[in-house]
Amino acid sequence: MQVIVLGSAAGGGVPQWNCRCPVCRLAWSKDPRVEPRTQSSIAVSPDGSAWVLLNASPDLRAQITATPALQPRVDGRDSPIRAVVLTNGDVDHIAGLLSLREQQPFELYGTADTLALIGENQVFEVVARQMVPREPVAFGAAFSPAPGLHMEFFTVPGKVPLWREDAALVIGEESGSTVGVTVTCGGKRLVYVPGCAAVTDALRQRIGGADLLFFDGTLYRDDEMIEAGVGTKTGARMGHLSMSGADGTLALLADLPVTRRVFIHINNTNPALVDGSDERRAVEAAGWAVARDGMEFIL
Ligand code: MLT
Ligand code: MN
Ligand code: ZN
Repeated sequence: MQVIVLGSAAGGGVPQWNCRCPVCRLAWSKDPRVEPRTQSSIAVSPDGSAWVLLNASPDLRAQITATPALQPRVDGRDSPIRAVVLTNGDVDHIAGLLSLREQQPFELYGTADTLALIGENQVFEVVARQMVPREPVAFGAAFSPAPGLHMEFFTVPGKVPLWREDAALVIGEESGSTVGVTVTCGGKRLVYVPGCAAVTDALRQRIGGADLLFFDGTLYRDDEMIEAGVGTKTGARMGHLSMSGADGTLALLADLPVTRRVFIHINNTNPALVDGSDERRAVEAAGWAVARDGMEFIL
């Protein structure tokens, strides 16, 4: 299995268009310690020929232009992208579908909940259903979006997308609104969890033994957006675990056997984005990598 990180940042990217938090400030000034990052998505392939995208970020067009493997190979209209698999209905995971609208066939997979959200938004009809069938997948049902590549959704504590929040909001619900994906190919297993509000025993079982784990790296500290003066919400309120602290990801997943562990969906306020920072050192000392755009893995 081949894996390419198309985008490693959370919503807004790095730097974010309207942000001068301490990390964005370094990125705007082109400080070499902070690499710019686009919004999170990975591409996986069984053979380097057919590719499947896990989520479609608003930066997808730029990600394709930066990634030769995803570009057309034969004259006329062509794309090696066979399918897009959605883990939720957040803007940073679905808006890129609108960039895939030019009458190109591929398949769109998601839970019934996520596909219903897309179905309610007429703008997504530009991705014509005759060309792009929408395939709802139930939990525990294996699906194969490209020959040799097997996937399965599993529930992850989360919430409905920000744009669907209402008075009835439940944070940490396990429903079809936020899922993780297991990808297996040639006996290797990748687990993709770009958003997660809590670590449950079931989640630990899903992750344990993975050859490669991508996990929610939104914030380093739960209150860092408030501290940076760029927001009023904690990570917990946004449905994201933080890296640090007794109930952070580093601690909660420390004992799990995973060959490689990589944080993805990293918010621009996260100081672990800064090469050489104390936070980066702490993350790496715990055995984690901080994803960069263009990172490649072969399993
Ligand atoms: C999130 O990851 O919490 C969402 O992408 C937030 C948003 O939609 O802006
Ligand atoms: Mn997000
Ligand atoms: Zn920022």
